Amino acid sequence: MKFDTPATRNPIDQLKVIGQPLDRIDGPRKTTGTAPYAYERHDAAPNQAYGYVLAAGIARGRVTAMDTAAARRARGVLAIVTTLDVPRLEKGRMNTASLFGGPEVQHYHQAIAVVVAESFEQARDAAAMIRVDYARQPGRFDLAAEARNAKLVPGDSGEGSGAPPEDRFGDFEGAFAAAPVKLDETYTTPDESHAMMEPHATIAAWEGERLTLWTSNQMIAWGKRDVAKTLGIPPENVRLDSPYVGGGFGGKLFLRADAVLAALGARAAGRPVKLALTRPQVANNTTHRPATIQRIRLAAGRDGRLTAIAHESISGDLPGGGPETAVAQTKLLYAGANRLTALRLAELDLPEGNAMRAPGEAPGMMALEVAMDEMAERLGLDPVEFRILNDTQMDPEHPERPFSQRQLVQCLRLGAERFGWAGRNARPGQRREGRWLVGMGVAAGFRNNLLMKSGARVRLDAQGAVTVETDMTDIGTGSYTIIAQTAAEMMGVPLEKVAVRLGDSDFPASAGSGGQWGANNSTAGVYAACVKLRDEVARKLGFNSAEAEFVDGHVRAGNRAVPLGEAAGQEGIVAEDQIEYGELAKRYQQSTFAGHFVEVGVDAATGETRIRRMLAVCAAGRILNPKSARSQVIGAMTMGVGAALMEELAVDKRLGFFVNHDLAGYEVPVHADIPHQEVIFLDEVDPISSPMKAKGVGELGLCGVGGAVANAIYNATGIRVRDYPITLDKLI
Ligand code: MOS
Repeated sequence: MKFDTPATRNPIDQLKVIGQPLDRIDGPRKTTGTAPYAYERHDAAPNQAYGYVLAAGIARGRVTAMDTAAARRARGVLAIVTTLDVPRLEKGRMNTASLFGGPEVQHYHQAIAVVVAESFEQARDAAAMIRVDYARQPGRFDLAAEARNAKLVPGDSGEGSGAPPEDRFGDFEGAFAAAPVKLDETYTTPDESHAMMEPHATIAAWEGERLTLWTSNQMIAWGKRDVAKTLGIPPENVRLDSPYVGGGFGGKLFLRADAVLAALGARAAGRPVKLALTRPQVANNTTHRPATIQRIRLAAGRDGRLTAIAHESISGDLPGGGPETAVAQTKLLYAGANRLTALRLAELDLPEGNAMRAPGEAPGMMALEVAMDEMAERLGLDPVEFRILNDTQMDPEHPERPFSQRQLVQCLRLGAERFGWAGRNARPGQRREGRWLVGMGVAAGFRNNLLMKSGARVRLDAQGAVTVETDMTDIGTGSYTIIAQTAAEMMGVPLEKVAVRLGDSDFPASAGSGGQWGANNSTAGVYAACVKLRDEVARKLGFNSAEAEFVDGHVRAGNRAVPLGEAAGQEGIVAEDQIEYGELAKRYQQSTFAGHFVEVGVDAATGETRIRRMLAVCAAGRILNPKSARSQVIGAMTMGVGAALMEELAVDKRLGFFVNHDLAGYEVPVHADIPHQEVIFLDEVDPISSPMKAKGVGELGLCGVGGAVANAIYNATGIRVRDYPITLDKLI
């Protein structure tokens, strides 16, 4: 189905099942521990052996020799494949560096061998016996030191948030020089790790030339293509299966070493192999969000209207990699005739930087929204009013292109009212409760809505039950539930009559889970398949398909009503289709908006910051399931607190690796850190986004939160920290 004209009324608008705050249908399996994750697929293939990855102990150089004699003699060892045994593997289209093969080491903990043994302990033990000789070379590990060598590059995270290297509109320099009120500040964000609960893990099995990977991956079709490319086998010989994913956050968008080495180990051992990356390997072997240095210049007239906006970001990556697209929101969020955005990349020899939790906007808003707070203060304006004053309903870089929906002003106004913003003292450091300095902060929330084609297959059987199959993944987001809701609404059956099967590359390719594009696109694909199924059912019964209604398990037209099971008959009816987007999408800018409000207490003696309460007001199209959407948003708000106060990969700038590579040293918020969160969804349907009239919402809950926390800390203390995370040492 081509979606190329604004959506009109359709069966989804009945909202009998869609839009209801239903429990997640996979909830009981998740909470009872019976949903099997990749490493737990014990019955997927018989006679599984264990793989263990040996990772490089240097950050840059060459492996000159590997002595595996003792390891090969060790008890239980079935096979060893070292990086010197195979030529450098072709890299996947979504990978920056090759994942294995050849002597060159490009980053610390690059995989250099896989050991396969009868037990995990035997494999780990033998891996420790491998003697590796290296020729170490000096590397570049310090972004601040390399920043002067950074070059303009286009943004392409592989995740949708692309941007040209430099964009200019009007005369930024002239307008900035002439303005009466201005700001020129630099903000820095650190390297961050996804820190998902489930590490990267794969069970691999070969049947002749055919390879099956039971794995943990957000993007099944990308993974299948990249496995084939990396191993040099035809894609039709590759199957990925990933029905449950224990968190991804962007770390599982792409093929990683677990899948490649499980496949190589299984081929060498002649047995299925299961393999998980260790927690330290997740930090240094896989990808991370790269650190940024962001310079922002804002200029305004005395009336508070922005006249010039510049945002330039520098980040680092391995040669051939891309920048963090931290300027993405600055192109779209506020009016202002004279604009400059630029992305620069410094080559670093740290592990690969890539998409993590709203890449681009998440760190970009941590700079822009603090700059806006600072600018409001210079202008003597309330920060909510300053943002509202500079709202725009058109894309500022393409003034002929409107936003399909843009309720930023409504988000900010409602949020201010509900949060009690009027009670905030505009002068910082004024409110004291015992030992706590208390402050409030606000930020806009912004994340683009990305459109991706997405397919599904639906089957109606003789019992009147509906089965949906698509390679869409559920990474903890609620995909199973909203897909079931979509099929139930379309076919006029209760939710219990719908079975959803996900994550198998044998199913039609979907949009996958990334960039908050999963919900809208994957359900729109199911919508398309259901439209086709409805047509098939009507045609089989001789009904006029435009008149046929699907209600209460029946299909009706005129005075005839046939139970769906009877219509399907013993052979059942199957339909497959996909949603594809046409020119309509180009005529509108599609984005999601929020108002983020935070209250903090800062200990006057120790500088410790505690979050007291948070509110997000979100405008993100139709909310398909308010309960699962709220869960997405409060999870994202929690990540925003992590980014503001805690999360930082510490770089060893001499040896080139992330030191705090586990969940003891890499801190993220826990329940006790987050006392009170509230989420309000504005009533919005967006007929431009898809037949579902929905948009993404998960990442919106994160983008802006860090800035709101920083602004609240400033309001509490009068201390403006521009270097994240805002740890207590920066406040005393
Ligand atoms: Mo992506 S960082 O999984 O949205």
